Amino acid sequence: MKKWRLDFRLWHWVHAAVILGLLGTVFLRKTFLSWRTNSELLTQKLAEIDLSVTEAQAKVLAKAIRAPMWEWHIILGYALAALVVWRIILFFTDSGKQNYQNLKSESFHKKMVKIGYIGIYTIILFMSISGLVIHFYEVLGLTKEIAHDIKEIHELVFNAILIFVPLHIIGVIIAENQDEKGIISDMINGGSKS
Ligand code: HEM
Ligand code: HEM
Repeated sequence: MKKWRLDFRLWHWVHAAVILGLLGTVFLRKTFLSWRTNSELLTQKLAEIDLSVTEAQAKVLAKAIRAPMWEWHIILGYALAALVVWRIILFFTDSGKQNYQNLKSESFHKKMVKIGYIGIYTIILFMSISGLVIHFYEVLGLTKEIAHDIKEIHELVFNAILIFVPLHIIGVIIAENQDEKGIISDMINGGSKS
């Protein structure tokens, strides 16, 4: 029997791509498409061709340039919410629950890795719910201030994902090179149950 069923592997890789995509949109929002940087650039470049804009106008322009990119945060956000539901369903399969059974007999290190996975699942669940709530705050009857406060928490918790992703990737590469040969290819070809 395979260690990871095809549907679980598909889930893992689609989920990885969606999370990396979401991190990519945040990266762009905070760097190349930052409205602060771009509004200054626009003000400066427009001045060079004798056009003057107010700070507020430059902000509107810079945000308009950012908007089509940020739509991807929302599209990938919906995808993430669907992937969370899919992962919950997968918990009822052998592949989906094997990492969380007989935790007592595991080494301290493995226990920590698995608790880490449960932690990241909780965080991803929070990000999905909070993201949807910010996006639909009007429909939900929430005030702009409450939506803003939730956004602040959403933005703070994002840091946990930023830390988990490189740790996880470095972790599985180290495991692959030490005592867990095949750990990465198992997630690609399914491996076999030990
Ligand atoms: C792109 C490089 C990645 C590689 C090579 C990779 C590889 C792996 C491997 C080999 C496992 C199995 C580990 C084990 O048996 O304990 C695993 C599990 C897992 N990965 Fe990744 N991963 C990658 C990206 C990601 C990303 C971006 C996320 C997003 C948060 C993620 C989330 C998870 C989770 C939550 C598990 C635990 C699965 C379970 O519930 O049993 N992975 N990954
Ligand atoms: C791993 C998952 C996610 C990460 C890492 C993430 C990260 C972030 C960050 C860092 C911000 C703040 C951006 C800033 O103000 O500079 C943000 C805002 C936001 N996110 Fe997410 N997010 C995730 C999932 C989602 C989901 C599932 C949705 C739901 C559709 C969502 C919707 C939003 C919305 C609506 C905002 C507010 C944008 C604004 O103020 O214009 N996010 N996200």
